[in-house]
Amino acid sequence: MNIETLRWSEGRLEMIDQRVLPSQFRYLPYTNAAEVATGIRDMVVRGAPAIGVAAAYGVALEALQQQHQTIEQFTQAIHRGLDVLAASRPTAVNLFWALKRMRQRWVAVSNPEPHTDSPAAIAQALLAEAHGICAEDIAINRAMGAHGEKLLKNGARVLTHCNAGALATAGHGTALGVIRSAVAAGKKISVIADETRPFLQGARLTAWELVQENIPVTLITDNMAGHLMAQGDIDAVVVGTDRVSANGDVVNKIGTYMLAVLAHRHRIPFYVACPLSTIDMTILSGKDIPIEERHIDEVRGFRNLHWAAEGVAIRNPAFDVTPADLVTALITEKGVVSQPNEQRLRELFRSN
Ligand code: MRU
Repeated sequence: MNIETLRWSEGRLEMIDQRVLPSQFRYLPYTNAAEVATGIRDMVVRGAPAIGVAAAYGVALEALQQQHQTIEQFTQAIHRGLDVLAASRPTAVNLFWALKRMRQRWVAVSNPEPHTDSPAAIAQALLAEAHGICAEDIAINRAMGAHGEKLLKNGARVLTHCNAGALATAGHGTALGVIRSAVAAGKKISVIADETRPFLQGARLTAWELVQENIPVTLITDNMAGHLMAQGDIDAVVVGTDRVSANGDVVNKIGTYMLAVLAHRHRIPFYVACPLSTIDMTILSGKDIPIEERHIDEVRGFRNLHWAAEGVAIRNPAFDVTPADLVTALITEKGVVSQPNEQRLRELFRSN
């Protein structure tokens, strides 16, 4: 099954509603930047690369909707669209990376004389840029998969966290892309997916994706990982990331740090699949990356069911920081970076 997380259809964006998977499979339509920003905030679409692609389409939609306005009104609307999208979620840097690309395209098509091009022509250029970002994301994931699959042995039992699959990207996935590529290369791979409290991306999304493709997958709760590692049931951990700082620290779904510490203790390789668009060389260390705090409802229960004691204080940080020294390697579209550090990441960008 080819999972189309986002698709362009009849002049609008459609996104799989990831809040209701796997019990329902439905697309929701989007026609402007504010709607897309709400879809990102509410996690209709989630996963760093998919958020970036959605935001790019959000800008294009806003431009298409405003293309019959005066150039001044059009310009103001695009600025507002960029701002509302940038405020949707703080941690995944792909969001800001994609918005920067859209802004650069906007400037480029408006040059050399600002405001000489028509809103309609600018809107078409922005739509083409969004389509380009979407197509590139799939190609990047396939390239990461080709590099990363070499790290997995035939028969490997691979633990993954959250969902870093097709649903978190425009297609193929980052961490699950590595696994898909290993399977496509003829290796027998089995996956252990932890459920990933509180939003259950592992239980609902990763398990669903892998079941669709007949890739063997076993679900565990988050607190079972240490036991399985101690029993010798895990050969490698592969996760995605929302932002990597210049020193190689990895910010990813809450609980990733715990897995990295456990993997280190049990001498299990800990790999992070990471497109270059997820590396933020402007932030030197993971502790300076903004960590989103989400609504306490996600922790006190699930959907309408609340199981926590009334009145209890609740925290809900959505991401954590795994220090670079716990990372065996970053898997990028340009190759594998072992024991990432600032020098190695700078070299990676220099050779870009
Ligand atoms: O809160 P989410 O579901 O958007 O968090 C997603 C993750 O943490 C993923 O692991 C990360 O974005 C990498 S996705 C290819």
